[in-house]
Amino acid sequence: MRQELSLLQRFADMFLKDVNLGVILMNTDFQLIDISDTACRVLGLQREHVLHKPMDYVFKDLPAEHRIVDPRILDGMVVRNQAVSWTNNQERYELLVDSNVLRDEQGQVVGACIMFKDVTNLRSLEEQVQRSDRLAMIGQIAAGTAHEIRNPLTSIKGFLQVFRKTFQEQGMIRESDYTDVMLREINRINELVNEFLLLSKPKNATYEEVDVSQVVRELLPIINNEAILHKVTVQYEAVYGLPRVIADREHLKQVFLNICKNGIEAMGDGGFLTIAEKMDPEERRVSVDIHDTGPGIPMYVIDKIFDPFFTTKAEGTGLGLSVCQRIIHDIGGHIRVSSKGFGTTFTVSIPFP
Ligand SMILES: Nc1ncnc2c1ncn2[C@@H]1O[C@H](COP(=O)(O)OP(=O)(O)OP(=O)(O)O)[C@@H](O)[C@H]1O
Ligand SMILES: [Mg+2]
Repeated sequence: MRQELSLLQRFADMFLKDVNLGVILMNTDFQLIDISDTACRVLGLQREHVLHKPMDYVFKDLPAEHRIVDPRILDGMVVRNQAVSWTNNQERYELLVDSNVLRDEQGQVVGACIMFKDVTNLRSLEEQVQRSDRLAMIGQIAAGTAHEIRNPLTSIKGFLQVFRKTFQEQGMIRESDYTDVMLREINRINELVNEFLLLSKPKNATYEEVDVSQVVRELLPIINNEAILHKVTVQYEAVYGLPRVIADREHLKQVFLNICKNGIEAMGDGGFLTIAEKMDPEERRVSVDIHDTGPGIPMYVIDKIFDPFFTTKAEGTGLGLSVCQRIIHDIGGHIRVSSKGFGTTFTVSIPFP
Protein backbone atom coordinates (compact mmCIF):
# COMPACT_ATOMS: atom_id res chain seq x y z
CA MET A 1 0.00 0.00 0.00
CA ARG A 2 2.76 2.34 0.99
CA GLN A 3 4.68 1.73 -2.18
CA GLU A 4 1.55 2.32 -4.25
CA LEU A 5 0.95 5.61 -2.54
CA SER A 6 4.44 6.79 -3.19
CA LEU A 7 4.12 5.80 -6.82
CA LEU A 8 0.94 7.85 -7.10
CA GLN A 9 2.62 10.65 -5.25
CA ARG A 10 5.50 10.54 -7.66
CA PHE A 11 3.13 10.55 -10.59
CA ALA A 12 1.39 13.61 -9.19
CA ASP A 13 4.73 15.33 -8.59
CA MET A 14 5.84 14.61 -12.10
CA PHE A 15 2.59 16.04 -13.39
CA LEU A 16 3.27 19.33 -11.71
CA LYS A 17 6.86 19.48 -12.89
CA ASP A 18 6.30 18.23 -16.43
CA VAL A 19 7.65 20.90 -18.73
CA ASN A 20 4.99 20.22 -21.30
CA LEU A 21 1.92 20.36 -19.19
CA GLY A 22 0.20 23.21 -17.42
CA VAL A 23 -1.78 22.01 -14.39
CA ILE A 24 -4.02 23.98 -12.06
CA LEU A 25 -5.80 22.33 -9.10
CA MET A 26 -8.63 24.03 -7.29
CA ASN A 27 -11.00 23.21 -4.45
CA THR A 28 -14.77 23.61 -4.30
CA ASP A 29 -14.39 27.16 -2.96
CA PHE A 30 -12.82 28.08 -6.30
CA GLN A 31 -9.44 28.52 -4.63
CA LEU A 32 -6.18 27.63 -6.29
CA ILE A 33 -4.61 24.67 -4.45
CA ASP A 34 -1.62 23.97 -6.66
CA ILE A 35 -0.17 25.04 -9.97
CA SER A 36 2.59 23.56 -12.11
CA ASP A 37 5.75 25.39 -13.15
CA THR A 38 4.68 25.43 -16.78
CA ALA A 39 1.31 26.94 -15.92
CA CYS A 40 3.07 29.68 -13.96
CA ARG A 41 5.43 30.41 -16.84
CA VAL A 42 2.78 30.50 -19.55
CA LEU A 43 0.20 32.40 -17.52
CA GLY A 44 2.82 34.77 -16.12
CA LEU A 45 2.04 33.91 -12.47
CA GLN A 46 4.26 33.37 -9.46
CA ARG A 47 3.42 30.23 -7.53
CA GLU A 48 3.89 31.65 -4.05
CA HIS A 49 1.69 34.64 -4.92
CA VAL A 50 -1.29 32.61 -6.03
CA LEU A 51 -1.29 29.49 -3.81
CA HIS A 52 -4.52 29.19 -1.77
CA LYS A 53 -5.85 32.37 -3.34
CA PRO A 54 -9.36 32.64 -4.87
CA MET A 55 -9.35 32.30 -8.66
CA ASP A 56 -10.97 35.71 -8.93
CA TYR A 57 -7.84 37.12 -7.33
CA VAL A 58 -5.44 35.04 -9.47
CA PHE A 59 -7.00 36.24 -12.71
CA LYS A 60 -8.10 39.62 -11.42
CA ASP A 61 -6.61 41.49 -14.37
CA LEU A 62 -8.60 39.55 -16.90
CA PRO A 63 -12.24 39.72 -17.99
CA ALA A 64 -14.13 36.52 -17.08
CA GLU A 65 -14.37 35.23 -20.64
CA HIS A 66 -10.57 35.20 -21.00
CA ARG A 67 -9.81 33.29 -17.82
CA ILE A 68 -9.00 29.74 -18.69
CA VAL A 69 -10.57 28.64 -15.40
CA ASP A 70 -14.35 28.64 -15.54
CA PRO A 71 -16.34 28.31 -12.26
CA ARG A 72 -18.80 26.10 -14.11
CA ILE A 73 -16.17 23.37 -14.10
CA LEU A 74 -17.13 22.76 -10.46
CA ASP A 75 -20.72 22.13 -11.56
CA GLY A 76 -19.49 19.31 -13.73
CA MET A 77 -18.78 21.17 -16.96
CA VAL A 78 -16.20 19.14 -18.86
CA VAL A 79 -13.77 20.82 -21.22
CA ARG A 80 -11.91 18.78 -23.81
CA ASN A 81 -9.25 20.07 -26.21
CA GLN A 82 -10.48 23.60 -26.11
CA ALA A 83 -8.19 25.84 -28.16
CA VAL A 84 -7.33 29.03 -26.30
CA SER A 85 -5.02 31.89 -27.32
CA TRP A 86 -3.19 33.41 -24.43
CA THR A 87 -1.00 36.52 -24.46
CA ASN A 88 1.31 37.33 -21.60
CA ASN A 89 3.86 40.14 -21.81
CA GLN A 90 3.47 40.26 -25.58
CA GLU A 91 4.27 36.58 -26.00
CA ARG A 92 1.46 34.67 -27.58
CA TYR A 93 0.66 31.08 -26.70
CA GLU A 94 -1.75 28.68 -28.28
CA LEU A 95 -3.10 26.32 -25.63
CA LEU A 96 -5.21 23.17 -25.67
CA VAL A 97 -7.20 23.03 -22.46
CA ASP A 98 -8.82 20.07 -20.66
CA SER A 99 -10.60 20.22 -17.37
CA ASN A 100 -12.43 17.86 -15.11
CA VAL A 101 -13.92 17.64 -11.63
CA LEU A 102 -12.28 15.53 -8.93
CA ARG A 103 -14.54 13.38 -6.76
CA ASP A 104 -13.98 11.51 -3.51
CA GLU A 105 -14.98 7.87 -2.87
CA GLN A 106 -18.59 8.86 -2.25
CA GLY A 107 -18.74 10.66 -5.56
CA GLN A 108 -18.76 14.10 -3.94
CA VAL A 109 -17.05 16.85 -5.88
CA VAL A 110 -13.94 17.88 -3.95
CA GLY A 111 -12.28 20.08 -6.53
CA ALA A 112 -11.30 20.31 -10.15
CA CYS A 113 -8.23 20.28 -12.28
CA ILE A 114 -7.40 22.19 -15.41
CA MET A 115 -4.68 20.90 -17.69
CA PHE A 116 -3.31 22.48 -20.79
CA LYS A 117 -0.66 21.84 -23.37
CA ASP A 118 1.30 24.56 -25.09
CA VAL A 119 0.79 23.91 -28.81
CA THR A 120 2.16 27.22 -30.06
CA ASN A 121 4.81 25.47 -32.13
CA LEU A 122 2.30 23.18 -33.75
CA ARG A 123 0.03 26.03 -34.66
CA SER A 124 2.80 28.10 -36.15
CA LEU A 125 4.02 25.03 -38.06
CA GLU A 126 0.55 24.66 -39.52
CA GLU A 127 0.57 28.31 -40.51
CA GLN A 128 4.02 27.98 -42.03
CA VAL A 129 2.92 25.05 -44.15
CA GLN A 130 -0.08 26.99 -45.41
CA ARG A 131 2.11 29.97 -46.11
CA SER A 132 4.72 28.02 -48.03
CA ASP A 133 1.94 26.38 -50.06
CA ARG A 134 0.74 29.82 -51.03
CA LEU A 135 4.27 30.95 -51.78
CA ALA A 136 4.86 27.93 -53.99
CA MET A 137 1.73 28.68 -55.98
CA ILE A 138 2.63 32.31 -56.45
CA GLY A 139 6.13 31.23 -57.38
CA GLN A 140 4.82 29.02 -60.16
CA ILE A 141 2.68 31.78 -61.60
CA ALA A 142 5.50 34.27 -61.25
CA ALA A 143 8.07 32.06 -62.92
CA GLY A 144 5.70 31.44 -65.80
CA THR A 145 4.98 35.08 -66.47
CA ALA A 146 8.07 36.96 -65.37
CA HIS A 147 10.24 35.93 -68.32
CA GLU A 148 7.42 36.57 -70.74
CA ILE A 149 7.20 40.10 -69.38
CA ARG A 150 10.89 40.73 -69.28
CA ASN A 151 11.72 39.76 -72.85
CA PRO A 152 9.43 42.22 -74.64
CA LEU A 153 10.45 44.85 -72.10
CA THR A 154 14.07 44.46 -73.10
CA SER A 155 13.32 45.19 -76.73
CA ILE A 156 11.02 48.11 -75.91
CA LYS A 157 13.75 49.53 -73.72
CA GLY A 158 16.35 49.12 -76.44
CA PHE A 159 14.27 50.93 -79.06
CA LEU A 160 13.38 53.69 -76.61
CA GLN A 161 17.06 54.32 -76.02
CA VAL A 162 17.52 54.66 -79.77
CA PHE A 163 14.59 57.11 -79.88
CA ARG A 164 16.04 59.14 -77.07
CA LYS A 165 19.37 59.43 -78.81
CA THR A 166 17.70 60.56 -82.06
CA PHE A 167 15.48 63.04 -80.21
CA GLN A 168 18.48 64.50 -78.44
CA GLU A 169 20.43 64.80 -81.68
CA GLN A 170 17.51 66.59 -83.30
CA GLY A 171 17.08 68.90 -80.31
CA MET A 172 13.62 67.54 -79.54
CA ILE A 173 13.85 68.18 -75.79
CA ARG A 174 10.22 67.45 -74.90
CA GLU A 175 10.18 64.13 -76.73
CA SER A 176 13.46 63.13 -75.19
CA ASP A 177 12.10 63.96 -71.71
CA TYR A 178 9.09 61.74 -72.43
CA THR A 179 11.33 58.87 -73.36
CA ASP A 180 13.23 59.39 -70.10
CA VAL A 181 9.98 58.98 -68.19
CA MET A 182 9.13 55.87 -70.19
CA LEU A 183 12.54 54.37 -69.52
CA ARG A 184 12.19 55.03 -65.79
CA GLU A 185 8.79 53.35 -65.73
CA ILE A 186 10.18 50.38 -67.59
CA ASN A 187 12.91 50.10 -64.99
CA ARG A 188 10.23 50.00 -62.33
CA ILE A 189 8.48 47.13 -64.07
CA ASN A 190 11.81 45.38 -64.40
CA GLU A 191 12.49 45.70 -60.70
CA LEU A 192 9.10 44.28 -59.91
CA VAL A 193 9.65 41.36 -62.25
CA ASN A 194 13.03 40.73 -60.63
CA GLU A 195 11.34 40.52 -57.25
CA PHE A 196 8.90 38.04 -58.72
CA LEU A 197 11.72 35.91 -60.00
CA LEU A 198 13.42 36.04 -56.63
CA LEU A 199 10.24 34.82 -54.97
CA SER A 200 9.89 31.95 -57.35
CA LYS A 201 13.47 30.95 -57.99
CA PRO A 202 15.95 31.94 -55.35
CA LYS A 203 18.34 29.34 -56.77
CA ASN A 204 20.56 31.67 -58.71
CA ALA A 205 22.07 32.83 -55.45
CA THR A 206 25.83 32.71 -55.03
CA TYR A 207 26.67 31.72 -51.51
CA GLU A 208 29.90 32.89 -49.97
CA GLU A 209 31.28 33.98 -46.64
CA VAL A 210 29.80 37.38 -45.90
CA ASP A 211 30.68 39.95 -43.29
CA VAL A 212 27.30 41.27 -42.15
CA SER A 213 28.83 44.48 -40.76
CA GLN A 214 30.36 45.22 -44.12
CA VAL A 215 27.04 44.69 -45.88
CA VAL A 216 25.33 47.08 -43.47
CA ARG A 217 28.10 49.66 -43.85
CA GLU A 218 27.85 49.54 -47.64
CA LEU A 219 24.13 50.15 -47.35
CA LEU A 220 24.32 53.06 -44.92
CA PRO A 221 24.65 55.79 -47.58
CA ILE A 222 21.55 54.53 -49.38
CA ILE A 223 19.59 54.20 -46.13
CA ASN A 224 20.73 57.66 -45.03
CA ASN A 225 19.60 59.12 -48.30
CA GLU A 226 16.15 57.65 -47.88
CA ALA A 227 16.11 58.74 -44.22
CA ILE A 228 16.94 62.36 -44.94
CA LEU A 229 13.95 62.59 -47.28
CA HIS A 230 11.72 61.58 -44.35
CA LYS A 231 13.60 63.60 -41.69
CA VAL A 232 14.66 60.36 -40.01
CA THR A 233 17.91 59.97 -38.06
CA VAL A 234 19.80 56.73 -38.55
CA GLN A 235 21.79 55.21 -35.69
CA TYR A 236 24.15 52.32 -36.29
CA GLU A 237 25.48 50.10 -33.50
CA ALA A 238 28.19 47.85 -34.87
CA VAL A 239 29.75 44.81 -33.21
CA TYR A 240 33.43 44.44 -33.82
CA GLY A 241 34.56 41.16 -35.38
CA LEU A 242 31.19 39.56 -36.13
CA PRO A 243 31.64 36.00 -37.42
CA ARG A 244 31.02 35.63 -41.13
CA VAL A 245 27.82 33.99 -42.33
CA ILE A 246 27.15 32.02 -45.48
CA ALA A 247 24.84 34.04 -47.66
CA ASP A 248 24.34 35.78 -50.98
CA ARG A 249 25.70 39.28 -50.44
CA GLU A 250 23.28 41.05 -52.79
CA HIS A 251 20.27 39.25 -51.39
CA LEU A 252 21.32 40.14 -47.86
CA LYS A 253 21.58 43.79 -48.87
CA GLN A 254 18.10 43.60 -50.26
CA VAL A 255 16.79 42.21 -46.97
CA PHE A 256 18.27 44.97 -44.83
CA LEU A 257 17.31 47.65 -47.30
CA ASN A 258 13.69 46.44 -47.50
CA ILE A 259 13.29 46.34 -43.75
CA CYS A 260 14.96 49.73 -43.24
CA LYS A 261 12.80 51.27 -45.94
CA ASN A 262 9.67 49.89 -44.28
CA GLY A 263 10.78 51.43 -40.99
CA ILE A 264 11.47 54.81 -42.57
CA GLU A 265 8.20 54.73 -44.49
CA ALA A 266 6.30 53.84 -41.31
CA MET A 267 7.67 56.87 -39.49
CA GLY A 268 6.39 59.28 -42.11
CA ASP A 269 7.88 62.46 -40.83
CA GLY A 270 10.74 62.30 -38.37
CA GLY A 271 11.98 59.64 -35.97
CA PHE A 272 14.87 57.31 -35.31
CA LEU A 273 15.93 54.21 -37.15
CA THR A 274 18.37 52.10 -35.19
CA ILE A 275 20.38 49.30 -36.77
CA ALA A 276 22.05 47.20 -34.09
CA GLU A 277 24.23 44.17 -34.64
CA LYS A 278 24.27 41.33 -32.11
CA MET A 279 26.08 38.05 -31.69
CA ASP A 280 24.92 34.97 -29.84
CA PRO A 281 27.89 32.61 -29.48
CA GLU A 282 25.83 29.84 -27.84
CA GLU A 283 23.17 29.70 -30.54
CA ARG A 284 25.85 30.48 -33.12
CA ARG A 285 23.83 33.26 -34.64
CA VAL A 286 24.51 36.74 -35.86
CA SER A 287 21.54 39.05 -35.73
CA VAL A 288 20.65 42.55 -36.78
CA ASP A 289 17.89 44.47 -35.01
CA ILE A 290 16.23 47.16 -37.07
CA HIS A 291 14.15 49.36 -34.82
CA ASP A 292 11.96 52.29 -35.78
CA THR A 293 10.01 54.76 -33.66
CA GLY A 294 6.97 54.60 -35.92
CA PRO A 295 3.37 53.82 -34.93
CA GLY A 296 3.94 50.06 -34.58
CA ILE A 297 2.01 47.26 -36.25
CA PRO A 298 -1.47 46.41 -34.96
CA MET A 299 -2.02 42.85 -33.70
CA TYR A 300 -4.51 42.02 -36.46
CA VAL A 301 -1.99 43.02 -39.13
CA ILE A 302 1.16 41.47 -37.73
CA ASP A 303 0.28 37.91 -38.78
CA LYS A 304 -0.11 38.97 -42.40
CA ILE A 305 2.88 41.20 -43.06
CA PHE A 306 5.01 38.37 -44.47
CA ASP A 307 2.30 37.29 -46.90
CA PRO A 308 2.99 38.09 -50.54
CA PHE A 309 0.94 41.07 -51.74
CA PHE A 310 -0.09 42.13 -48.26
CA THR A 311 0.36 45.87 -48.08
CA THR A 312 -1.21 48.84 -46.34
CA LYS A 313 0.47 51.31 -48.67
CA ALA A 314 -1.12 52.89 -51.70
CA GLU A 315 2.03 52.33 -53.79
CA GLY A 316 3.24 49.15 -52.12
CA THR A 317 3.54 45.76 -53.80
CA GLY A 318 3.50 43.84 -50.54
CA LEU A 319 6.36 41.71 -51.81
CA GLY A 320 9.12 43.30 -49.71
CA LEU A 321 8.87 41.22 -46.57
CA SER A 322 7.89 37.96 -48.25
CA VAL A 323 11.02 38.18 -50.38
CA CYS A 324 13.10 38.98 -47.27
CA GLN A 325 11.69 36.00 -45.46
CA ARG A 326 12.34 33.71 -48.38
CA ILE A 327 15.97 34.83 -48.59
CA ILE A 328 16.61 34.47 -44.86
CA HIS A 329 14.84 31.10 -44.58
CA ASP A 330 16.97 29.78 -47.42
CA ILE A 331 20.12 30.37 -45.38
CA GLY A 332 18.68 28.81 -42.25
CA GLY A 333 17.85 32.05 -40.50
CA HIS A 334 14.65 33.71 -39.39
CA ILE A 335 13.06 37.14 -39.19
CA ARG A 336 11.14 38.01 -36.05
CA VAL A 337 9.06 41.07 -35.51
CA SER A 338 7.97 42.65 -32.27
CA SER A 339 5.79 45.68 -32.07
CA LYS A 340 4.65 46.85 -28.68
CA GLY A 341 2.24 49.61 -29.50
CA PHE A 342 4.93 52.14 -30.18
CA GLY A 343 7.75 51.39 -32.58
CA THR A 344 8.68 48.18 -34.32
CA THR A 345 11.74 45.94 -34.21
CA PHE A 346 12.59 43.48 -36.95
CA THR A 347 15.27 40.99 -35.96
CA VAL A 348 17.09 39.21 -38.75
CA SER A 349 18.98 36.29 -37.31
CA ILE A 350 21.41 34.22 -39.37
CA PRO A 351 23.41 31.16 -38.27
CA PHE A 352 27.18 31.17 -38.66
CA PRO A 353 29.17 28.00 -39.27
N1 LIG B 1 8.37 48.99 -39.58
C1 LIG B 1 7.06 48.88 -39.85
N2 LIG B 1 6.15 49.61 -39.16
C2 LIG B 1 4.83 49.50 -39.43
N3 LIG B 1 4.32 48.67 -40.37
C3 LIG B 1 5.17 47.92 -41.09
C4 LIG B 1 6.58 47.98 -40.87
N4 LIG B 1 7.17 47.11 -41.72
C5 LIG B 1 6.18 46.54 -42.44
N5 LIG B 1 4.97 47.02 -42.09
C6 LIG B 1 3.68 46.63 -42.64
O1 LIG B 1 3.85 45.45 -43.40
C7 LIG B 1 3.31 45.62 -44.71
C8 LIG B 1 4.06 44.73 -45.69
O2 LIG B 1 5.39 45.17 -45.88
P1 LIG B 1 6.17 44.79 -47.21
O3 LIG B 1 7.53 45.35 -47.14
O4 LIG B 1 6.04 43.33 -47.43
O5 LIG B 1 5.33 45.50 -48.35
P2 LIG B 1 5.19 47.08 -48.59
O6 LIG B 1 6.26 47.83 -47.86
O7 LIG B 1 3.79 47.43 -48.28
O8 LIG B 1 5.41 47.17 -50.16
P3 LIG B 1 6.84 47.29 -50.89
O9 LIG B 1 7.85 46.66 -49.99
O10 LIG B 1 6.67 46.59 -52.14
O11 LIG B 1 7.05 48.75 -51.04
C9 LIG B 1 3.40 47.10 -44.97
O12 LIG B 1 2.48 47.54 -45.94
C10 LIG B 1 3.10 47.69 -43.58
O13 LIG B 1 1.73 47.71 -43.36
MG1 LIG C 1 8.33 47.22 -48.02
